[in-house]
Amino acid sequence: MSRTIAVLGGTGPEGFGLALRWARAGETIIIGSRNAERAQDAAEKIKLKVGSHAQVSGDENSAACAAAGLVVLTIPFEGHASLLKQIKPAIRAGSIVVDTTVPLASSVGGRASRTLGVWQGSAAQETAELAPKGTSVVAAFQNLSADLLNGDGSVECDALVCSDDPDASKAVRLLATKIPGVRAIDGGKLENARILEQITALLIGLNIRHKGHSGIRITGLPAASYQP
Ligand SMILES: NC(=O)c1ccc[n+]([C@@H]2O[C@H](COP(=O)([O-])OP(=O)(O)OC[C@H]3O[C@@H](n4cnc5c(N)ncnc54)[C@H](OP(=O)(O)O)[C@@H]3O)[C@@H](O)[C@H]2O)c1
Repeated sequence: MSRTIAVLGGTGPEGFGLALRWARAGETIIIGSRNAERAQDAAEKIKLKVGSHAQVSGDENSAACAAAGLVVLTIPFEGHASLLKQIKPAIRAGSIVVDTTVPLASSVGGRASRTLGVWQGSAAQETAELAPKGTSVVAAFQNLSADLLNGDGSVECDALVCSDDPDASKAVRLLATKIPGVRAIDGGKLENARILEQITALLIGLNIRHKGHSGIRITGLPAASYQP
């Protein structure tokens, strides 16, 4: 499978930050957007930050999916289901789809520190329902702050990775550890994604209350659990 990573919604802070970190680590990235030109502008910005050797390009979301083996969704929840329906024919057989989406109430005019109920249990489980058969869905990166990802420093946060496919989970844990400061931990089945999504709402509330960029660290596990 191609190692190329499509980051859909990579024009926004979360996707841009992930793409930036992975480009710095030497990964091949395609930024996806509803508008190809916007995606290309974001790719150029990453090249300016990382250097001209960075393997980053930009394209419309479906075209980006069609050229990648690993697709990362970094879009607001209000566009989640419709984007998945749009890209479904473009997702290559055997692809891994990583969902970072948090169904924040702010997407329907509510508070960012609350989540919406999702019929399937979580945004990631909605993805599993809407993705083509043979796709492995992984929930990850919901708790990583875009502000920290877009900085130059270490991202002090653990990435809990949840999936029903152990191989896909491991591939995403390896990718997570390419971000300095991030430890990746197997978070179990995809159904645990609803907890990861809720934690983000809590972190947003903490950031508002304490004016910071909070993250999470899991302690007390055997050393091997912190190795991807
Ligand atoms: N920001 C954070 O710190 C953070 C942390 C953890 C997780 N997350 C999650 O990551 C996701 C992205 O966060 P973000 O802050 O980067 O979001 P954002 O800036 O609101 O959106 C990211 C990109 O998604 C695209 N987009 C916007 N509305 C869309 C729609 N209705 N349909 C399809 N695409 C749409 C836009 O790209 P184009 O206009 O170029 O298509 C936009 O630049 C969210 O689900 C968020 O909850 C965010």
